[in-house]
Amino acid sequence: MNEPLLQEQIAYYRARANEYEETALPTLGAGDSPMAREWREAERAVHALPQYTDILELACGTGVWTRLLAQHTEHLTALDAAPEMLQLNRANVNDARVKYECVNLFEWEPMQQYEMVFFAFWLSHVPQAQLDLFLQRVRRALKPNGTVFILDEPRGTKNVIPTNENVQTRALNDGRTFKIVKEYYAPEELRERMGQLGFASIEISRGDYFFWLRAGKSNND
Ligand SMILES: C[S@@+](CC[C@H](N)C(=O)[O-])C[C@H]1O[C@@H](n2cnc3c(N)ncnc32)[C@H](O)[C@@H]1O
Repeated sequence: MNEPLLQEQIAYYRARANEYEETALPTLGAGDSPMAREWREAERAVHALPQYTDILELACGTGVWTRLLAQHTEHLTALDAAPEMLQLNRANVNDARVKYECVNLFEWEPMQQYEMVFFAFWLSHVPQAQLDLFLQRVRRALKPNGTVFILDEPRGTKNVIPTNENVQTRALNDGRTFKIVKEYYAPEELRERMGQLGFASIEISRGDYFFWLRAGKSNND
């Protein structure tokens, strides 16, 4: 594992927390570009989720998706490695149904199972070498009939940022730069990989900018 890079990635998001929403994709939701329209489709897909007993959100950030997910459950557990993100999320979402935990997902082991595990714009920060281990943990975090929902940018997205061997250099408003992981996974390759790892009923919706993937477990071990 490239531990220094993964630590730098956490440091980047800690430092970026306060400017995240002004510079991240959600701001596009108000516009009428093709990307904004796709963004709103993704939001509609989340709005269309049923009610769950419990939901686990990984890498919850400032709460862009937490506030939608909270409408679909009585118990939402939101994890992130950046205390600054968790603090903003708590303030933004301000919902007693949401419990927060500061967790490094590369060291995480699920202690509980959930009907839904959700993560947006996180998988692309998981290096290829960690992918199976991470997805196996996600699977272990699912109840027998649980569902995982993944939202991210696919390989070939029209919003591609220059990436060198799956590492991007990102700058903050104050000019500081950080290196982070960026893997644009191909949804069809994920389907195959996840099938091998014991996920089933895998449904994919792929646009020009984003994709979302929904899957269950192939058996209940
Ligand atoms: C691109 S943001 C996505 C945030 C949110 N899911 C959204 O869609 O707005 C990536 C998130 O991953 C978190 N993160 C980075 N490294 C992490 C790690 N090792 N474990 C847990 N969270 C991490 C960051 O703090 C940040 O909140």
